[in-house]
Amino acid sequence: MKKIPFIDLKRNYQVYKKEIEEKVLEVLKSGVYLNGPNTKELERVLANYLNISYAIGVSSGTEALFLILKALELPKNTYVLVPSFTFVSTVEVIIRAGLIPYFVDIEENTYNISLESLKESYENLKKKRKKVSAIVVVSLFGLPAPLKEIKDFCEEKGIKLIEDICQAFGAKIGTQKVGTFGIASATSFYPTKPLSTFGDAGMVFTSDKTLAKKIRILKEHGQTKPYYYEYHGINGRIDEIHCSILLIKFKYFEKELKLRKAIAEKYIKILSNLFPQVKVPYFPENYESSNSLFTIRVKERKRLKQFLEKKGIETKVYYDRPLHLQPIYKDLNFRNGDLPVTEKLCKEVLSLPMYPYLKEEELEYITFTIEEFYKK
Ligand SMILES: Cc1ncc(COP(=O)(O)O)c(C=O)c1O
Repeated sequence: MKKIPFIDLKRNYQVYKKEIEEKVLEVLKSGVYLNGPNTKELERVLANYLNISYAIGVSSGTEALFLILKALELPKNTYVLVPSFTFVSTVEVIIRAGLIPYFVDIEENTYNISLESLKESYENLKKKRKKVSAIVVVSLFGLPAPLKEIKDFCEEKGIKLIEDICQAFGAKIGTQKVGTFGIASATSFYPTKPLSTFGDAGMVFTSDKTLAKKIRILKEHGQTKPYYYEYHGINGRIDEIHCSILLIKFKYFEKELKLRKAIAEKYIKILSNLFPQVKVPYFPENYESSNSLFTIRVKERKRLKQFLEKKGIETKVYYDRPLHLQPIYKDLNFRNGDLPVTEKLCKEVLSLPMYPYLKEEELEYITFTIEEFYKK
């Protein structure tokens, strides 16, 4: 068996090569590289897919999150509740927007924010007379967070709900897609994401007209008319080449989601037999994951990872060190032991190869090798 990469991006490109190359060439020849017809069309198509009023193409998922926080004009130095078990972007933008992150623990079997910990964190801050202005909730590895319950909580407390759906575009609870529960949401089209391009790009979704208008201004340097600046903005544009690629990829997106789902189901079916040594992810009823990553939990992670590596199987650890224990966030005064579930999972999680065109025999080889490890 040849090597199985964690994500084979070249394989994905090969599937759509002809269509993509033709379209990219068309854009190159058109002379329109920014704010053109592909951008408009992608925004229209994806707003429609999410069943939301506004979609704004931006340069990355990180900038999408930043632009939302900036446009909301939340009071400076107020608190934003956020999981520690996420990619650093989710938290770095809070600081860039002049706000203070407050880390919340997660549920062991879904890897997503724990409602109990969320409520407890809110009460802790309230006792200290600290104002909480927002929550940035992440639907991690593709699985929706408990968004309905979080939305109710936010409405009760009068705080803004912002969704980081960078790993979960296409996921849903019942028929409602993630990205439509809060005031706004941010997605990423980074090459490894469920809907991806071959570079950096992202999108903001909202049903709030004023917010959408403000984000459009902020992503163009805060310019309200040509060369007239009313706000401190950024260069946060998406470009036409990425939009044209995404329009092609989107045609096959539902098919790819189904392929990902079938892979996740096969992994779960086979690896569940290795319980309790191997714990597979749990999907609550009615929760449809976009299966961007497939992550198991094992006590002997280091040895299993090395064993798989020797057999040619690449795996990754998302995330090895929680954000509340990262050097950059030491001033926030979180300590080892503060978020026990997050800290435990950081020691146990292991993500296995997952991409729509992972072959049946490759999946069988991966699961067979894991079984071999536990039979030794
Ligand atoms: C949960 C999460 N948030 C934010 C981001 C940032 O997206 P981007 O890399 O497009 O800036 C990513 C992806 O890398 C992510 O996984």
